[in-house]
Amino acid sequence: MNLTVNGITHGVDGRELATLLDVLREDIGVTGPKAGCHQGGCGACTVLVDGEPRRSCLLPAGYADGTEITTVEGLGTPEKLAPIQQAFVHHYAAQCGFCTSGMMLAAHAYIDRGGTDDHDAIQQALGGHVCRCTGYSKIIDAVAAAARGDSFDLTTTAVGKYTTMATGGGE
Ligand code: FES
Ligand code: FES
Repeated sequence: MNLTVNGITHGVDGRELATLLDVLREDIGVTGPKAGCHQGGCGACTVLVDGEPRRSCLLPAGYADGTEITTVEGLGTPEKLAPIQQAFVHHYAAQCGFCTSGMMLAAHAYIDRGGTDDHDAIQQALGGHVCRCTGYSKIIDAVAAAARGDSFDLTTTAVGKYTTMATGGGE
């Protein structure tokens, strides 16, 4: 099968029935999607498949053959963060960072679909994404800010630490 991940096509053989999460992490070496619960309940493994958020721990990799997959590494780089990544940095919406890539991809898709800064709508869009650390309010503030198109001065935040989280850093 051919998996196009963040614009690069990878040929992967014999792994059609493995989860997309395992293939991304173990075969392709993309570690932004995290293995939280492995059973669809936490959202940490979320990636975009043809622009739609999907829990990669539930998806056989063969299902994604020929699709365009986006992980947090494909949203932006430490030098050029995507708006949703800037918003997470500015609002300190990550602590340990484990949920962050899945949250940002779901939020990115929500905003792409024309989502607004309405907190109830954001909560619904992020439904099922579990964060053990932040208590959610900073995450929702960040998504609302990105949905409004706010601009951020990141020189006043702890950019180094938060940029690492916001770009899928860590294993
Ligand atoms: S690891 Fe996939 S939803 Fe938790
Ligand atoms: S920042 Fe730690 S789980 Fe969300």
